[in-house]
Amino acid sequence: MMSRADKEALLCQRGMMVWFTGLSGSGKSTIAMGVERELHSRGILCRILDGDNIRAGINSNLGFSPEDRKENIRRIAEIGKLFVQTGIVTLACFVSPTNDVRRLARTIIGGEDFREVYVSTPLEECERRDVKGLYARARKGEIKEFTGISAPFEVPENPALEIDTSRLSLKESVRRVVDMVMDNFEF
Ligand code: ADX
Repeated sequence: MMSRADKEALLCQRGMMVWFTGLSGSGKSTIAMGVERELHSRGILCRILDGDNIRAGINSNLGFSPEDRKENIRRIAEIGKLFVQTGIVTLACFVSPTNDVRRLARTIIGGEDFREVYVSTPLEECERRDVKGLYARARKGEIKEFTGISAPFEVPENPALEIDTSRLSLKESVRRVVDMVMDNFEF
């Protein structure tokens, strides 16, 4: 088998996991898409993993109980690890609401390759945006165990980066993540 180093040499880049955590509607996927576009234009191969492509497919049998969320994150981390070890800059966008599940992801992927980005947009702003109409439904009790309303979100203890999209523009948010990724290439 060819090694990770062979693949990274082929791609002229280093694989890493950028793990976005934050409330639903905080801006994780929007920032990740901007980061992907910018890195792609610089010749860096990326892959986004988010709820749309994971929960609709491989994790379609999972719900939002604490156990299912943990299994969701475990599988995502295992899949993400394959991308990272192929030399790809992998952008994971999941609520990942507890220290426990984020620690699990970090352990599976390996601390060296793992950067946590906390998208700290306040609940009031996420709820005001309510892009998918889910907060309104959660308030009415139509969705149980909804993160921020009826299920916990634990603030990350030591993120590599914190971004509040109610204070920072999308452009600035993207720039900060791109800078962090580029720093990782200075080897
Ligand atoms: S995680 O908690 O297991 O990390 P994940 O990021 O995969 O969650 O999925 C969160 C997305 O699923 C939200 O952005 C929202 O669109 C949708 N969703 C549906 N039900 C819930 C719920 N009970 N809690 C949080 N998000 C939910």
